[in-house]
Amino acid sequence: MKLIDGKQISASIKERLAAQVATFPEKYGRVPHLVVVRVGEDPASVVYVRNKARACEACGIRNTTLVLPEETPEAALLDRIKELNADNSVDGVLVQLPLPRHISEAKVIEAIDRSKDVDGFHPLNVAGLWQKTPHMSPCTPKGIMKLLEAAGVDPKGKRTVVIGRSNIVGLPVAKMLLDANATVTLCHTRTVDLPSITRQAEILVVAAGHAKMVTGDMVSPGCVVIDVGMDRDPETGKLCGDVDFDSVAPKAAAITPVPGGVGPMTIACLMENTVECFLKALPTP
Ligand code: GUN
Repeated sequence: MKLIDGKQISASIKERLAAQVATFPEKYGRVPHLVVVRVGEDPASVVYVRNKARACEACGIRNTTLVLPEETPEAALLDRIKELNADNSVDGVLVQLPLPRHISEAKVIEAIDRSKDVDGFHPLNVAGLWQKTPHMSPCTPKGIMKLLEAAGVDPKGKRTVVIGRSNIVGLPVAKMLLDANATVTLCHTRTVDLPSITRQAEILVVAAGHAKMVTGDMVSPGCVVIDVGMDRDPETGKLCGDVDFDSVAPKAAAITPVPGGVGPMTIACLMENTVECFLKALPTP
């Protein structure tokens, strides 16, 4: 079994970006600028947003973190986004999800200018992915594709099973795997007889949001397993994935750990997307 080290792969992406960004002040007069907005005090969001700021620092990307109170009215947040859209010194705008329930996530996602949408969540970026026209790729699915590549796994022709149908991970990663010529079966927590399907997988991507739901009996020997979960073990309270690592790892050809697998790749891809937005916004000479 090979452990796919997302931490190391993401570190090398960030190093490459840092070297690239270091050339920007002389070439372009400034560095990219990412604004991350957090509304409220969701504990997971506090950690994610802090990690995004740290990654910016590592890459030499300017970061502003805006923390707004939980009670911020939806209209006030939308106004703030409009200001950021209009601000030429800002290249990327990210509003951390989930948002408090009185704020529509769909409205917020649509409000961010698509050219600054480093998350790749804007409907026009989503459409671009599905129609194969220019778009910003969502960070976690992009990170998963890079993990597979780094592990030497070509999805072409492989029976691939994705568990999870969210807009953020399941649907877009299924599309990217299809575009890489995998045969993709998309399932979810309500799929009837899920184990009979997962046992056919040569590549298994699990983004279901349920702690340790994939167990060793659900995986065939030699499977490559990508665990997108970030859960708490109900017994120990420790961080764990959607995959029961102890029973699955011995059967897998390769597997991502949690933490240290997909998570760091999401952030490395966010840094890449920020640089991409910056470069695309440069005035054409
Ligand atoms: N919450 C969990 N993952 C993400 C992400 O990739 N982007 C944003 N904006 N919020 C998230």
